Amino acid sequence: MNQPCHDGGPSRRAVLQSSAAIGVLAATGLAPPAVRAATDAGLPMPVLTPVSVTVNGRARALQVDTRATLLDTLRETLGLTGTKKGCDHGQCGACTVLINGLRANACLTLAVMHDGDEVTTIEGLGTPEDLHPMQAAFIKHDGFQCGYCTPGQICSAVGMLAEHRAGWPSAATADLTAAVELSGAEIQERMSGNLCRCSAYPNIVSAIREGGEA
Ligand code: FES
Ligand code: FES
Repeated sequence: MNQPCHDGGPSRRAVLQSSAAIGVLAATGLAPPAVRAATDAGLPMPVLTPVSVTVNGRARALQVDTRATLLDTLRETLGLTGTKKGCDHGQCGACTVLINGLRANACLTLAVMHDGDEVTTIEGLGTPEDLHPMQAAFIKHDGFQCGYCTPGQICSAVGMLAEHRAGWPSAATADLTAAVELSGAEIQERMSGNLCRCSAYPNIVSAIREGGEA
């Protein structure tokens, strides 16, 4: 028999027994909604916020969890799985997209921060029938093996070329007063945020050289 607490509430034993029963039900997947709600009661509930964002030229009105990254929103909410999740920590570049024309790691930015922004993913650069010049150059130069890093490489390359055209220097730029030639060393430095575990780097550099001339 349950013993009341000093304040008249349920005893510690009753709480532990009911918690254990809820845990067992939840673990077996047999918990009814009320029990699942009780199980989840300790978790913070998502806060949804309206966000209007243009993705690949299409206006999208979303209700986003304020904790959701742009990467997860693209992949899980919009079904744009071309943008890859590698490290989810800003270290590999697999998730690179263009935000208002600038490259960014989609795993490092929250979707809620992009109200009014324009996002371009690999799906928005070209189509199988009408490839972006950089996509065509990657195919021509065999700039990939498994292909997992490739969408991020291509988006990053497109953004990098725009940065170069705008006169942005890099850590490899020796003379900050002269026009920067896009040498192999410049391409390698400017693409250093995009890792390729298949080590297709020489072909990636060749592809970017050609894609940049198109
Ligand atoms: S998944 Fe974003 S940098 Fe690796
Ligand atoms: S092609 Fe496999 S990780 Fe780059």
